[in-house]
Amino acid sequence: MGKQNRWKDHYTDRAREEKWLARSVYKLEEIDKKHRLIRRGQRLLDLGCYPGSWSQYCIKRVGDRGEVTGIDLKQPDRFSAPNFRFIEADIFHLDTDWLAREVGQRDAVISDLAPQTTGVRVADASRSLDLAERALEIALAVLKKNGHFLCKIFEGEDLKAFRDRSHSYFSQMRLIRPSAVRKRSREVYLLGLNRVKQ
Ligand SMILES: C[S@@+](CC[C@H](N)C(=O)[O-])C[C@H]1O[C@@H](n2cnc3c(N)ncnc32)[C@H](O)[C@@H]1O
Repeated sequence: MGKQNRWKDHYTDRAREEKWLARSVYKLEEIDKKHRLIRRGQRLLDLGCYPGSWSQYCIKRVGDRGEVTGIDLKQPDRFSAPNFRFIEADIFHLDTDWLAREVGQRDAVISDLAPQTTGVRVADASRSLDLAERALEIALAVLKKNGHFLCKIFEGEDLKAFRDRSHSYFSQMRLIRPSAVRKRSREVYLLGLNRVKQ
């Protein structure tokens, strides 16, 4: 069996049938259904949006009066919508003050940012943590009071410290492993509900 085939599963087939750009959409859908994260008319920021399945899903959920901005190193080339805006950027080189002026206040910031994995667990977890830390900084710059933050992170020894630190900004914090996460994957999602403003 080729490497590509080993990675295919029923979520991959379902995504193709349902015309989603990636199987990752089912992770967001599960979290959204359970925690009522996304509502009509909201303004969202999607970090690490390529190829675009999360943004596709969000556009559907927020409807015509809502809006989604996606950021990635790579431009989604199979997805566009009148209320979707793409910013091509490396999140580590993005000026958060500029971003806050450019996109305004957001109801939720969702991050599926992932590093290029090396197979070395500790190194991959550390790079994922760097992305998650930066996603949190960006979220804090643009989130409204009571806004939500969803963030992918690889399990590692610093996860608990990051979770505890993030918790100080949100009234509730959850650690979630959606069913669509592959069995061997170390990824989990942190969900901060209701941003507390000091
Ligand atoms: C797992 S994919 C996201 C899939 C997406 N949520 C979807 O449903 O289509 C992770 C993305 O993070 C992006 N990424 C990784 N590091 C980044 C960085 N420093 N700045 C911006 N994007 C980054 C990658 O380019 C990649 O497209």
